[in-house]
Amino acid sequence: MTRLAGKTALITGAARGIGLAFAKGYVAEGARVALCDVDSAQAEASAAEIGPAALAVRMDVTDQDSIERAIADTSQAFGPIDILINNAAIFSAAPIVEIDRSDYQRVFDINVAGTLFTLQAVARHMIAHGVKGKIINMASQAGRRGEPLVAVYCASKAAVISLTQSAGLNLIAHGINVNAIAPGVVDGAHWDGVDAFFAKYEGKAPGQKKKEVGEAVPYGRMGRAEDLTGMAVFLASDEAEYIVAQTYNVDGGNWMS
Ligand SMILES: NC(=O)c1ccc[n+]([C@@H]2O[C@H](COP(=O)([O-])OP(=O)(O)OC[C@H]3O[C@@H](n4cnc5c(N)ncnc54)[C@H](O)[C@@H]3O)[C@@H](O)[C@H]2O)c1
Repeated sequence: MTRLAGKTALITGAARGIGLAFAKGYVAEGARVALCDVDSAQAEASAAEIGPAALAVRMDVTDQDSIERAIADTSQAFGPIDILINNAAIFSAAPIVEIDRSDYQRVFDINVAGTLFTLQAVARHMIAHGVKGKIINMASQAGRRGEPLVAVYCASKAAVISLTQSAGLNLIAHGINVNAIAPGVVDGAHWDGVDAFFAKYEGKAPGQKKKEVGEAVPYGRMGRAEDLTGMAVFLASDEAEYIVAQTYNVDGGNWMS
């Protein structure tokens, strides 16, 4: 299929997990993709697995110079950027009375400031090149409501939903669509960490939390990264032209809004 034929995409946090699944899905649709990640060794391995339509780029979304370099490297290799997926994020959890200021800062630096300033830099690039591009932010069902042990991560994802609304409303004047995807529970390294956290705080056996959240999904199981790819392709395609500032749940029915 070629719904993204000739397009250049930059995906942050694409060395593994959901970002990597998106990269594979985009290449299958005819795009060329920069896999941007702090984990450059894993990004290299993943890009090699995909082939010549993929480029590994070392990028830290908390560092403005690194953001600018990643944009320059991507556009030099593949031409001006048509699609950005702000996917890099970290998870963090603690009871309210144990939240640590430096941990809060780190989560907001990556999940919120990283999203905003990558979006800003790519939007400037798109405007300068006359590209009517597509920007997709990765939110979460965690951004739809609080959770007793996950205050900081939930707040960071609520901020991503809000930034998607404001940026979407502002950048559509330049023909740039900004939207977001809110996954539910998606198995992989991220959720291995979540499971370990709940094992510590709720005394659950390893794997128990995953089993519980999977069984609670109306669809009947945890998500797989590939379950989200259709939405990521659609939002990046010409078919999504009239979609502005929205956040779509792709979560097997976990959340309705
Ligand atoms: N897995 C889930 O259940 C789930 C649910 C809802 C939302 N999400 C969101 O989807 C996105 C992808 O999740 P995932 O499960 O693939 O996570 P993951 O932890 O497997 O992958 C995240 C990637 O981001 C990279 N990264 C971390 N800090 C970075 C930085 N400063 N600069 C650049 N890259 C950095 C990591 O190296 C990693 O490769 C995230 O935004 C996450 O919050 C995930």
